[in-house]
Amino acid sequence: NLPQRVRIYEVGARDGLQNEKQVISTVVKAEFVERLVAAGLRTVEATSFVHPKWVPQLADAEDLIDRLQPVDGVRYVVLVPNAKGLQRALDRGVRDIAIFASVTETFSRRNLNRSVAESIEMFTPVVEQARAAGVGVRAYVSMVCGDPWEGKVPVTQVVDVATRLVALGCTELCLGDTIGVGTPGHVRALVRALIAAGIERDQLGVHFHDTYGQALANVLAALQEGVTTVDSSAGGLGGCPYAESATGNLATEDLLWQLHGLGIETGVDLHALVRTSLWMAEELGRPSPSRTVQALAAS
Ligand code: HMG
Ligand code: MG
Repeated sequence: NLPQRVRIYEVGARDGLQNEKQVISTVVKAEFVERLVAAGLRTVEATSFVHPKWVPQLADAEDLIDRLQPVDGVRYVVLVPNAKGLQRALDRGVRDIAIFASVTETFSRRNLNRSVAESIEMFTPVVEQARAAGVGVRAYVSMVCGDPWEGKVPVTQVVDVATRLVALGCTELCLGDTIGVGTPGHVRALVRALIAAGIERDQLGVHFHDTYGQALANVLAALQEGVTTVDSSAGGLGGCPYAESATGNLATEDLLWQLHGLGIETGVDLHALVRTSLWMAEELGRPSPSRTVQALAAS
């Protein structure tokens, strides 16, 4: 029993580009987002209001948000780590934010300069103020399957951090396999444990990096458990600058090939997206790692 429709949460402009060494102009980023929307994507994570020294590629967050045209039914989400980030986002009229916690101590310190407990303390007023302003708040939990420094991560550790974040009032929870080490049995166990802990199925999203080629199999396992929000990145761009073993995200085109093959609706035009990723590959000066982009470009 698979869902009839899946909501794709597109992270190409944020997770996809945050790790790029060469500077990409704000104009190109804005065109990228516009093309993603034109291809039918309805939830697009656009940028991050983090410290520009930590993620220089996204230092133009304000400019980019100012360039994006509001489109009916489209949500532009931005990453926000703290009160300063939230203020910057609210000043630009942003209506959807995502906070991002780690379930492991090492990554929490490397990515946020905080222990897990300190990070939750940092997020508490952010979620409170955002919700009071009617802003949607997604909470990412990273390293849910394994961590490069701490190894395999127990399911109970994920449930612990995730339930604390949801209790703050977050509207959505996203499971991040940041370094792509997860496998379908692990994903199934994680989703079941979170639902058993009281997280609503329709609040849950999954976010797989494809380091070990398991992302699509992991998506299928999550769908079979009733998850209907799946993150992916156009062309398979991506990686995290603070987790070196992280490669690209699951490619949106590969995800579409699977979902449409299963008869699951997404509202996204695969061919328009492939054209977008081919254009972006030219801007970046290297081919897309997506197998579906490669296959359709050659056909
Ligand atoms: P910190 O150094 O502890 O910051 O960094 P602080 O609170 O001590 O402040 C230091 C200075 O930074 C102050 O300025 C602040 O105003 C300024 P000063 O008074 O010295 O002039 N500052 C800011 N400036 C602009 N925007 C802000 C901001 N905050 C403070 N928001 C901090 C803490 C959280 C800021 C830092 O660690 C940071 O920016 N981290 C972001 C890391 C990041 O973006 N990582 C990638 C995203 S996570 C990811 O990719 C995983 C995901 O895809 C899911 C998955 O795959 O699992 C989501
Ligand atoms: Mg990620």
